[in-house]
Amino acid sequence: MSNEWIRVAYCDDIPLREGREVVIGNRSIAVFNLGAKFLAVDNRCPHRGGPLADGIVTGDNVVCPLHGWKIDLQHGNVQRPAETPACVKTFATKVEAGMLLLEISELASCPASTGHAAVAEGGSLETSKERPCEDLRFS
Ligand code: FES
Repeated sequence: MSNEWIRVAYCDDIPLREGREVVIGNRSIAVFNLGAKFLAVDNRCPHRGGPLADGIVTGDNVVCPLHGWKIDLQHGNVQRPAETPACVKTFATKVEAGMLLLEISELASCPASTGHAAVAEGGSLETSKERPCEDLRFS
């Protein structure tokens, strides 16, 4: 399995302590700006699939907008309700030249995985091989 880093957004386009949805292939990923770092998890709450990118960031956690489960963005574990064994997948992140990149090893075979991310309606991102990264921005 090969690891691949994919450019998903300009860091400046993700407001401090907020999340944004990034769509890579058919997978929705939530990326968060925590100030000193960016974190990324599957954009699907382990409770009933709520959009974590729309949740409230508190510390290194996000609170799901649907029913209030709290998810640790660093490790993907559910913090509330306590002792809930569920978790979400996390993704490694890094910043290069003002852009946020995600390591998407398990999506290496995805046809869109070699492309750039592009902005979709409502501030989410979708991958596109044709669209140069200079066109990226949130709406
Ligand atoms: S779907 Fe997230 S708490 Fe219910």
